[in-house]
Amino acid sequence: MALKVHHIGYLVKKMEAAAAAFEKLGYSATQPVIYDDIRKVNICFMEKDGYRIELVSPAAEDSVVSGLMKRYKNSPYHICYETEDFGKDYMTLVSEGFMAIDTPTPAPALSGREVVFMTHVSVGMIELIKDRSVV
Ligand code: NI
Repeated sequence: MALKVHHIGYLVKKMEAAAAAFEKLGYSATQPVIYDDIRKVNICFMEKDGYRIELVSPAAEDSVVSGLMKRYKNSPYHICYETEDFGKDYMTLVSEGFMAIDTPTPAPALSGREVVFMTHVSVGMIELIKDRSVV
């Protein structure tokens, strides 16, 4: 596998307040806040020193992160990896003990590139994203 770190997903309770606080730390937003209607979350990508973070805040009671929010509050919660061979790496991850917790679905905040979330007993949650070149 040749996985490349794409971003760190960061749960935040209030998007505007969080984005402003991250700006104080030196991060800059790379695109406007986007509403993901599949997952019912607001998403804001920011960058600093070559690191990309994804602020994710619940936009509805039944958003995909509402349960996590209660457990973790404001906290990093996944690392996203880019893959050049989504199908092959997905199967390798499954054979290594990663279990998909959803199905590959387009992510509006990532130009519609497909992502899937997986979890591993010793790693926790990761996100796998299709490489730009194969979309
Ligand atoms: Ni993510």
